[in-house]
Amino acid sequence: MAVSEKIPHVLVIHGPNLNMLGKREPEIYGTETLEKINEALFQRARGYHITLETFQSNHEGDIVAKIQAAMSDCKGLIINPAAFAHTSMAILDALLLLSVPIIEVHLSNIYKREPFRQKSLVAAAATGQISGLGAMGYILALEAIANILASL
Ligand code: DQA
Repeated sequence: MAVSEKIPHVLVIHGPNLNMLGKREPEIYGTETLEKINEALFQRARGYHITLETFQSNHEGDIVAKIQAAMSDCKGLIINPAAFAHTSMAILDALLLLSVPIIEVHLSNIYKREPFRQKSLVAAAATGQISGLGAMGYILALEAIANILASL
């Protein structure tokens, strides 16, 4: 087996409007851009000897297709489904196809916000959820996946 085949590959999916981080309601979502969040994740992934891919889309079908494609090579998934967390059975069903650790991340604490944000449909497919820790949530999600993979 080639060395690269042994290095676990982790996919990070960012849902709709997360491409606007930095400009978007900074009092709720912070001032860090998505680019900065991804950079920090790539840096951390190197330390864990994990290869990382990040993907952002404003389109539900594209996110479903990306999750389906992850079935072939992904050993872990981090997803901030953004507003689709509250609405998308299609993303839930796609996530249920995977048998790898899945961490759902929300920058804000969805349980402290409007009632329509307090339910995540996607959570039913997640190994765990991090909500309300800002950009640090993504780093902690990667740490969780690295720990889970190391324990297998
Ligand atoms: C979010 C919370 C969602 O309710 C919202 O629609 C988002 C971002 C978060 O990261 O806090 O777009 O997922």
